[in-house]
Parts: sequence; structure tokens; C-alpha cells
Amino acid sequence: MNRLVRSHCIKIHKRFGEKAIRLLNKLSLINKDLKILNLGDHLLIPIKEKPSNTVLNEISKHIEELEFSLHEFPVRVKGPKTIVDYLEDKLPPYLLASLPRSIDFIGDIAVVEIPEELEPHKYLIGEAVLKVYKRVRSVLAKSGAVRGTYRVRDYEVIAGSDNTETLHKEHGCKYYLDLRKVYFSPRLSYEHYRVASQVHDGEVVVDMFAGVGPFSILIAKMRSNVLVYSIDINPDAIGYLKRNIYTNGVEGKVIPILGDAREVIGTRLTHIADRVIMNLPEKAAEFIDAACMALKPSGGIIHYYQFSEAPYPIEKARESLINGVASAGKFIEAILTERVVREVAPYKWQIAIDARVR
Ligand SMILES: C[S@@+](CC[C@H](N)C(=O)[O-])C[C@H]1O[C@@H](n2cnc3c(N)ncnc32)[C@H](O)[C@@H]1O
Repeated sequence: MNRLVRSHCIKIHKRFGEKAIRLLNKLSLINKDLKILNLGDHLLIPIKEKPSNTVLNEISKHIEELEFSLHEFPVRVKGPKTIVDYLEDKLPPYLLASLPRSIDFIGDIAVVEIPEELEPHKYLIGEAVLKVYKRVRSVLAKSGAVRGTYRVRDYEVIAGSDNTETLHKEHGCKYYLDLRKVYFSPRLSYEHYRVASQVHDGEVVVDMFAGVGPFSILIAKMRSNVLVYSIDINPDAIGYLKRNIYTNGVEGKVIPILGDAREVIGTRLTHIADRVIMNLPEKAAEFIDAACMALKPSGGIIHYYQFSEAPYPIEKARESLINGVASAGKFIEAILTERVVREVAPYKWQIAIDARVR
């Protein structure tokens, strides 16, 4: 049972409710520690103090038929605001200091990295995430690195539902995906947008390692007249890509192709592209010749990604791209952008390079 507290309040007809709450909020008058009461046709809004005559005049200018009174109100029960708040009396301070600082949210799934010393408390941490972030349905702990051809990771469900399929929204697009079957990272959100916003109407794009479609579908949503060939070798990624093409209404503009990017380009997509996206940073260097083969004979843009270690990570990525393009018998006319996308391990970064290739 909630504790009751006596407070000044304003009684208002429900039809003025929204307007009154907005105005009282603006005047910082609402007592937010107490719950607003619903009395059928009327609302009782708890206020911090009886307003001065000037404030009162202001309020009555905007709201008709208001009454002041005193009433008992239930106290709002506030949930913890952070996982530290929730765990503060459940874990010793030296362990609180090791709690994960960043949580990735993918649809209604939260992904955390549990440090070794917190391993025995991981289910408690999962419970804390569910308590703090109300829209989260499952909490997954990373239980290995991103690996294999499909670039997927092992996860352990540490709280909530076992179902790891979700619907994630990014830049107004909707992506169905299952984190246990396909690659997806919300940390690439800006990169998806940065590349998509460079595409012009009329372009043909080859997305060599498309996953569930975050580059391809956004490009098709942002431009009315584009054609994107989206290749992936993982049948589950192509399954979700097809569903996402339909969900986002970009049928005919994004063409999903299951297969190895080199083979697909060699057999179906030679010399057709104005732009090629190579988001396989682990191995993109091995595919530069295939990317060059996809470009129109007049050339085009390559968006190249590579994991690079210190020292000089950007220079290392640039060198791989320049050498790869030269080995394919082409040359780089201009480097358009070079940037660090994110840190992926100590002294190791994902680098992006946009280059115009002839
Ligand atoms: C790092 S993920 C990128 C997915 C997507 N571009 C994104 O931003 O979420 C790389 C993708 O490349 C796919 N892949 C790996 N090797 C491939 C190949 N040889 N040909 C086509 N796709 C490949 C994987 O299945 C994976 O979905």
C-alpha cells in the first residue's frame, strides 16, 4: 500500500487536464513526488505550494473552473535510475566500480559485457538492467568474440526472455534480426547514415557484406531512384534482409543475393556499380580486387573498412587500400574521408576510408 501525504492541489475538469498539466509544469508547480488522482470527470493535481495571486491570475486566464483544496495523495514509488542505484546495497563497493559502463540496446534486447570479477553476479546484473530499463525484454551477456565467416558472437541470456529475435529501429528504418544468428551493431549507426547520405539519385550500389541491410535499406529509403545489390554469405542474414526489405517498403530497390561477394560480383555484377560498400573490416583487404571489379569502367567510390592496430592505424588501412587497388590494375584518384569508427580492442580500431577509384 502506498504511503499517503496531504498536499495542496488543483481540481480541474478532465477536458482541461492536458492543458493544465502543461501549464503547471511550466510554472514548476506540480509536486512530482505524488501521484495525480483521477476522480471520474475531474483530476486532482498535487502542487508544491498554494500559488501567489499573480500566478493564480495567470493560471485562471488559461484554465476555466479550477478549484484549490487540500487532499491526501499516494506517494510515487520511484524505480532505480541506474544499475548502480539498484545494486548499491547488493554488491560491495569494489565490485560496483567494475559494473559495465556501456550497454548496447538492440530493439528490446540489452547487451552487456560482464568483467571476470562480476561473473558470479551476472544474473543479478541482468535483473538490474531489466529493473532500470523498462523497455528491455532480454539481457544478454557477451560470452565470446565476434567470430567466423558470419561474424556472429555467442551470448548468454542472463535475464528475461530466451528469445533473441528483436525489431531494432535506426534512422527511421526497421530491422528484424536475431543476434545469435546474424551480425548487428548499434555502434555503426552513424556510419550507416554517413555512407547512405553520400549516395546520389540514379546510383547503382553494391553492398558486398550487407548483413540484415542497415546500409542498403537506409540508402533505398533516403533516395527515390537507386538500385542496391546486397550480398551476404549467411543465409540467416539474407532471410532477415528479405523480411526487412519488405518491412521498409523498398522492394525492387534493394536486391538481396545469397553468396560469396567475390563469386557473385564475378558472375553477375561486373562493371555495374557507382559505389561499393565493403563492411567486413576483418577481411576487406582480401576483397579489394572484387570491389574494383564491381565498379563501372569509368570508376566510382569505395567505402573501405579495416581493423588496424597502433601505431598509425589510419595509415595502415590507407596503405592496404592503395596496394589492393593497384594490384587490381586501378588507381585511387582521391581519398575522400579517413576516420576512426570505433575502438574494438585495446590499441585496435575500426577504420573507414572513402576513396574515388579510377
Ligand atoms: C561485419 S558484418 C556487416 C553487416 C552489415 N554491413 C552491418 O553494418 O551490420 C559482415 C557481414 O559479411 C558477411 N560475409 C562474410 N564473408 C562474406 C563473403 N565472402 N561474401 C559475402 N558476405 C560475407 C557476414 O555474414 C556478415 O553478415
